Amino acid sequence: MSGTGAAGRALAALLLAASVLSAALLAPGSSPTPDLGKKRHLELKMDQALLLIHNELPGTNLTIYWNFDCCYHCLLQVLVDVSQSRKPGEPSIEAVAVSTQHGSILQLNDTAEEKQVCRLEYKFGEFGNYSLFVKHTHDGVNEIACDLVVNEKPVDSNLPVSIAFLVGLVLIIVVSFLRFALSLEDFRDWISRAINSQETDGLINSELGSPSRAGDPPPEAWRQSAAPLRLRSVDTFRGIALTLMVFVNYGGGRYWYFKHASWNGLTVADLVFPWFVFIMGSSIFLSMTSFLQRGCSKFRLLGKIAWRSFLLICIGIVIVNPNYCLGPLSWEKTRIPGVLQRLGGTYFVVAVLELLFAKPVPEICTSERSCFSLLDITSSWPQWLFILMLEGVWLALTFFLPVPGCPTGYLGPGGLGDGGKYPNCTGGAAGYIDRLLLGDHHLHQHPSSAVLYHTEVAYDPEGILGTINSIVMAFLGVQAGKILLYYKDQTKGILIRGLFLLL
Ligand SMILES: *[C@@H]1O[C@H](CO)[C@@H](O)[C@H](O)[C@H]1NC(C)=O
Ligand SMILES: *[C@@H]1O[C@H](CO)[C@@H](O)[C@H](O)[C@H]1NC(C)=O
Ligand SMILES: *[C@@H]1O[C@H](CO)[C@@H](O)[C@H](O)[C@H]1NC(C)=O
Ligand SMILES: *[C@@H]1O[C@H](CO)[C@@H](O)[C@H](O)[C@H]1NC(C)=O
Repeated sequence: MSGTGAAGRALAALLLAASVLSAALLAPGSSPTPDLGKKRHLELKMDQALLLIHNELPGTNLTIYWNFDCCYHCLLQVLVDVSQSRKPGEPSIEAVAVSTQHGSILQLNDTAEEKQVCRLEYKFGEFGNYSLFVKHTHDGVNEIACDLVVNEKPVDSNLPVSIAFLVGLVLIIVVSFLRFALSLEDFRDWISRAINSQETDGLINSELGSPSRAGDPPPEAWRQSAAPLRLRSVDTFRGIALTLMVFVNYGGGRYWYFKHASWNGLTVADLVFPWFVFIMGSSIFLSMTSFLQRGCSKFRLLGKIAWRSFLLICIGIVIVNPNYCLGPLSWEKTRIPGVLQRLGGTYFVVAVLELLFAKPVPEICTSERSCFSLLDITSSWPQWLFILMLEGVWLALTFFLPVPGCPTGYLGPGGLGDGGKYPNCTGGAAGYIDRLLLGDHHLHQHPSSAVLYHTEVAYDPEGILGTINSIVMAFLGVQAGKILLYYKDQTKGILIRGLFLLL
């Protein structure tokens, strides 16, 4: 069993590496840019399309305003000015590159009178060539029509990611088929007869370092007690989260759904951290239970937890300040919050909370269905009370803390958002608390809200107030770990509770 297990794991690792690699290779970042020889003085980059604006109105200068339609309540930005047409029948043409990551809003105003000429919403496609004709309609002189025409069709930027997905799927199918075939006795016999089994067996085993099958097998009972109990579901989930994290951190092929949402919205990238925190919670509970069962003292565990959190936070601060090449690190510009720092803080609070109120796993529940069905919650009421209080603090601060110059309870991104009325209110109370306690210079200077909303104030997505929510998330993970241990072998009970946790 151990041999196939190790082989399976090696195969899974290979598979992951292959799918990540193929996705990275096939992503449009490395795809050759199409021949733009005929371009009208414009070099198109990835995620851009060419838009030619034909102004056929005599005596009207146009200003074109633009923004993404997903930029919530945003101020429109000047895209280009198109001067009036000089002669009837001879339009004045301007070429601009428009971004194709999301749908666009275009608003055409009369420059002199600041009067709206027309407004349209359109989703441009990568490397497409479009023309926008602005002209008087034939029947009414004062009627103006804006017609968008596709000159050249865009390329399908989702093709690479679909191919990568298909390749991964085919690999998974092939591997599961191979594993199935290997599990058949006849097939295995045939394989070992086909190749010189003695030699290759020895070679494979010495390469992989697994115990030779011919030698004395390790006593099963001894291995059971020495190897810590691993839950395959937890390991699998962790593996998926880690793979996604690596992919997302290497740019995710620059697809918008592998990048963090600028402010509103949810992308794949936004899920990784909460998932990871959730698994961390489960692991905290599982490992702590096994330590306590082996008679480890609570005091020693506390020291361990504190040391681990301290290390995490220190490593995190070193990692988020990678400007060693730009000169000596100065404390004035050091960013303090970060992902590892938040993981460290969350770990400390949740682990200490569990340690303080840890109780042995009730034995009755592991075998019979006789135990009280809400035991997983009632047995940890002090923890629940603490977590609910903490969440109450979060709600109170977020919605009732007065922030100077901003509406109380503001949750928006600031910048261009909300009609540009609160440019420096990014993050409302959360941002205010960080700026107050840590100072502008110790926060993230280029948060993802700067992408769409052009925010200028420092704002840290891993700020202090938000740590409360990761603590709650990790606590839910602890609860999931409890369900797994308390209701061992009661698959139905676990599933029902899992559904409740999800909701
Ligand atoms: C886009 O289309 C217009 C009109 O068909 C053409 O004149 C122009 O050369 C095209 N530009 C590119 C870069 O293909
Ligand atoms: C349009 O702009 C040009 C200069 O760019 C100017 O000479 C002309 O008077 C403007 N026309 C109107 C109607 O404002
Ligand atoms: C364009 O015209 C509209 C309608 O007259 C006006 O409300 C708006 O302020 C103008 N400018 C922009 C940037 O939309
Ligand atoms: C926002 O902050 C910038 C500099 O940080 C400042 O120049 C600007 O005046 C501020 N805007 C408001 C509305 O307070």
